[in-house]
Amino acid sequence: MDNSELISRARCVLRLNDMGEFTRPSPRQYPHQWNWDSAFIALGLSHFDLPRALAEVRTLLRAQWRDGMVPHIIYPTGASDYFPPPDFWRTENLPHAGAIPSSGLTQPPILATVVRAMSGPTHTAQRDFLQEVFPRLLAWHRWFHTTRDADGTGLPCLIHPWESGMDNSPLWAGALDRITPINLPPFSRRDTIHVAPDERPLAPDYERFVYLIDCGRRLRWEPRALLEQMPFLVQDVLFCSILHRADQDLRMLAVKLGQDTYEIDGWLARTHEVFDTRFWDDERGLYLDYDVRAQAPIRANANVTFAPLFAGLASPEQAARLVVEHLDNLVEYAPGADSQFRLPSVAKNERGYSPRRYWCGPVWIQMNWIIAGGLRRYGFAAQADALVRDSLALMAQSDFREYYDPRDGSGCGATDFCWSAALALEMAASPDSSPHPGELKS
Ligand code: DGY
Repeated sequence: MDNSELISRARCVLRLNDMGEFTRPSPRQYPHQWNWDSAFIALGLSHFDLPRALAEVRTLLRAQWRDGMVPHIIYPTGASDYFPPPDFWRTENLPHAGAIPSSGLTQPPILATVVRAMSGPTHTAQRDFLQEVFPRLLAWHRWFHTTRDADGTGLPCLIHPWESGMDNSPLWAGALDRITPINLPPFSRRDTIHVAPDERPLAPDYERFVYLIDCGRRLRWEPRALLEQMPFLVQDVLFCSILHRADQDLRMLAVKLGQDTYEIDGWLARTHEVFDTRFWDDERGLYLDYDVRAQAPIRANANVTFAPLFAGLASPEQAARLVVEHLDNLVEYAPGADSQFRLPSVAKNERGYSPRRYWCGPVWIQMNWIIAGGLRRYGFAAQADALVRDSLALMAQSDFREYYDPRDGSGCGATDFCWSAALALEMAASPDSSPHPGELKS
């Protein structure tokens, strides 16, 4: 497929999944609206249908909870054959929940970054739209920095692996191992009907996902109780980097709208202050996730370690170590005898690496986009170009799949997958641009 074919096929995938008010991530596997999927989808749509892109964002934010959370799955059209169905979450009639049926969890807040990119130099400023969505984005970010702050750092805690977006990553293995899923509510998995079981989470992981939903609904999704009692409580490098970057983009939107930036400046300063202490491992030259319940770093090497570059949170020295010691390292992430395509989601020499199993090793296009943007911000243009080139090659070779086997580039998971298509449009339009890079840490 050449670039123009790829672009027209990508548009078709976004149209195929257009449900009118929202875009489902893929036809059978994910028939509802997902939070960060919708944000990436809006970015893709903005390349050829800006009004539809803005509608995607509006539908997502319409589901915002009264306390500020924007949920991870939204069911605007009710139940389907997807598990969990809307009533499984027991979020209806909670005083702090929203008006649209939804899950009780959230997802990585890439939305402010997308909204800023859509109102950037390539598109006409949408002042009314910005005025409408800005207060909602601000409320969501405030919710992360306060309601999900368990330790005074302002770094949000995640209460379920689904909130990270990286459901069965080896990052969560230790925390999930400590959980015994007792008295599970009756359920039957639907995710292995349309996707091969060996590309999906293993049964013990999935049981723990369901167990954690049950814990949340018993606590009536009450934020304080969740922080105090959920058996899974972590701080994730990718999530916190996306939030910090989104705080920067939200600040730019505030400036554009003539709004006060005092509160956002406070979040930015606080994250800068605590990020290294919480996540940086100077001995290994890696950013490591943190298990808040165990009060210990999570020692797994996953590609989230490169995400702080996207947020300008690394010093030039830290960035150089990440690139030289890890990204370009044949044993960990660089293509070599055992892999052809960048970037495995988990280091190839990491325990738990499994090149076709969901978040245990496959290449994800949105991770490549985030990491390429970060590399470019730090001047690693060759490495960023390689990530974009590999992403476009994977999609040309294996179509718009949910994830790809880094060994041979074969497609895995859901088919006609929207965020891959959306980011193909973004990468093909501006292969060498990171949207609005900002300051770096000195
Ligand atoms: C799933 O159903 O596997 C999703 O990742 C939940 O968000």
